[in-house]
Amino acid sequence: MPTPEANQVTIREPDDWHLHLRDDDMMALIANYSARQFARAIIMPNLVPPVTTIAAAEAYRDRILDVLPTGHRFTPLMTAYLTDEIGPDEVETGHTRGVFTACKLYPAGATTNSAFGVTDVRNIYPVLERMQKTGMPLLIHGEVASSDIDIFDREAVFLETVLAPLLGDFPELKVVLEHITTADSVQFIQAAGPSVAATITPHHLRIDRNALFEGGLRPHAYCLPVAKRTHHRAALREAATSGNPKFFLGTDSAPHPRHDKESACGCAGIFCAPVALESYALTFDEENALDRLEGFASEFGPNFYGLPLNEGSITLRREALTVPKIVTGNDLSVVPFHAGETLAWCAMERSQG
Ligand code: DOR
Ligand code: ZN
Repeated sequence: MPTPEANQVTIREPDDWHLHLRDDDMMALIANYSARQFARAIIMPNLVPPVTTIAAAEAYRDRILDVLPTGHRFTPLMTAYLTDEIGPDEVETGHTRGVFTACKLYPAGATTNSAFGVTDVRNIYPVLERMQKTGMPLLIHGEVASSDIDIFDREAVFLETVLAPLLGDFPELKVVLEHITTADSVQFIQAAGPSVAATITPHHLRIDRNALFEGGLRPHAYCLPVAKRTHHRAALREAATSGNPKFFLGTDSAPHPRHDKESACGCAGIFCAPVALESYALTFDEENALDRLEGFASEFGPNFYGLPLNEGSITLRREALTVPKIVTGNDLSVVPFHAGETLAWCAMERSQG
């Protein structure tokens, strides 16, 4: 239960239901930012090459655990990257063996490292059938990849042309529409059955598309799906703070080296892990909904996934937090979300249950 004191809030330990931890030097640099705030995280499989087999997911999980400091309390929950070729047996065996918590659907060409993604959802119908039977969640990057469709419309078009028919064919399939960015998606999720939910990032609760062009081109505000108009952000804020269990926390923290962001063809992705919980707290506070942070951050996700709630807790204080302008190490520099800003909330003090 949150402590209802004005200057601090204590919630059950949260989980991150959508996270990019990368690999090698980048992972070694950034993994602990998530491990110090979150008890578990759903790890995205869009490595190069992508994580498409049980063996690859086990090896990746071992590499993640290897870079975490001793005494960490963080469980990576692995996902399978769906391709046109992946077989239902690999997916189901991975799930029953406790390796794959879920599968990720990237429409081919929709985003970073999605080249091996699914070219037509009908190609994975046998896999979806098996997932529906076993109760394994399907996590979706919900954008059409077609360059004929305006980039700001790609999520809304996906709902209509891909997701609605898919849910018609698989009414019992557990689906998480990831990192939603539009009022259309909020309405879609509200209207869908109980097996359909969505995650919302800290940055989509704060920035709208103007942030991309504020006084010049702002590559660190660029992610996919791209931030939309202000009224969409307002709908997301309302959904996240509404207490509706269909909406829960997923940071989509997606670090790229600074030079790959500040480039003639800058990568999509916002590195929000260093300030994820603090940024959510700021938004919930602004919406007078701090009492609803715990449900969003720590309860609705595990309940949807059918996993136990965490036993520990974490306390956030209303205390100035200056966000570094840059995170460096291992010959890498990464610019975090809220870089150089001073936030009003400061997370910490995590205690074991
Ligand atoms: O902005 C994004 N970055 N969106 C995605 O879907 C992928 C991610 C990444 O991996 O960099
Ligand atoms: Zn992502």
